[in-house]
Formats: sequence, structure tokens, C-alpha cells
Amino acid sequence: MSELETLKQQCLQCQNCGLAATRTNLVFGVGNPESPIVFVGEGPGEQEDLQGEPFVGRAGQLLDIMLEIIGLDRSRVYICNIVKCRPPKNRDPHPEERDACRPWLNRQLEIISPKIIVCLGRIAATSLIDPEFRITRQHGQWFSLDGISCTAIYHPAALLRDPGKRPETFVDLKEIRRKLDAMASEN
Ligand code: URA
Repeated sequence: MSELETLKQQCLQCQNCGLAATRTNLVFGVGNPESPIVFVGEGPGEQEDLQGEPFVGRAGQLLDIMLEIIGLDRSRVYICNIVKCRPPKNRDPHPEERDACRPWLNRQLEIISPKIIVCLGRIAATSLIDPEFRITRQHGQWFSLDGISCTAIYHPAALLRDPGKRPETFVDLKEIRRKLDAMASEN
């Protein structure tokens, strides 16, 4: 069994917060464990909870298009969330739930050891980059997360609600592609 699969089996037993009691399925993460780029969302929604996979609802369909824009697809990236269990009624995960789930994400990132982390939306950015992170002002900027290049873009659900944010996100996606190519040519 791979290290990530072993971690998932351990995560299935987790009772670190109350979300374990109300979820249908654990949504651990999917994709390529060798990928240089990891996308981190907020937490599972209804469809994700039912299917046990991140970003399979409407926001997920848009995420697939966003990946395609920069020549990627789910087989080339790894996708996971700040919290692995669905918050009831899709509310924001509470800070203590994010904290309780953090060791799982930290270990996932240690195992995958990506070159780039992309936060999808405010919750991921405030959890990973800076509690004071302002997505409207700071999306597309680069930060260092323990030496890993980290950026945040608008959450696909936000882009569904407000298509006016899409042109800025297009620019951010192109910058992520540029960084990925620059890092690949460094090796
Ligand atoms: N939104 C998220 O942040 N994560 C998912 O997995 C699905 C929707």
C-alpha cells in the first residue's frame, strides 16, 4: 500500500472533530501523488460527501476547465481540501475543525512534496498562507510555505457566483503555468 493510501486508512478512523459524525464519506484527496502541484480547496460539499471525491459538483466541473486552460487535468495534479469531512449545510469549516484536520493535510503535503501549492479560495488561503489573507487583493501573488511556492486563486464556486472575476483568474492561472514551466526547466 502506498504511503498516501496508508494515511487515508488512518484518516478514515479520525474523530478529531465533530464533522466525522455527520459525514457520509471521507473526502481524502485524489490525483497524482507524484505531481509537482497540489490544489487545496475548502471542504467537501454535498456531491463530494456522497461520492467521496473532491470537486465533483458544479464547482468541480469549473475546476476541470481551469486545469484544462493551463494544460493540466486530474491525472497530472493532486486535489484535496482543508477539511476532509463535509461541514453540515456547506457552512464554512470552523477554525477548530480546520486545526483538527491540519495534521492530515500536512502529512499529505509531506508525502507528495509538491513544488507548488494553489489555495482555492479564501478559506484555504487564510488557513495555509496568512489568517489575514485578502483574496480580492492578494490572489495570484506568491508566498513561501515552508519553502514551497504557494498562491491563491478565487474558488471555482466564487467564479460561478461572479463570472466578472474570471478574467483575473485567467491571468492567475497563466502565471501558475509559467511558474510550473520555470521550475521544470530548473531541474
Ligand atoms: N468545494 C471545495 O472547496 N472542495 C470540494 O471538494 C468541493 C467544493
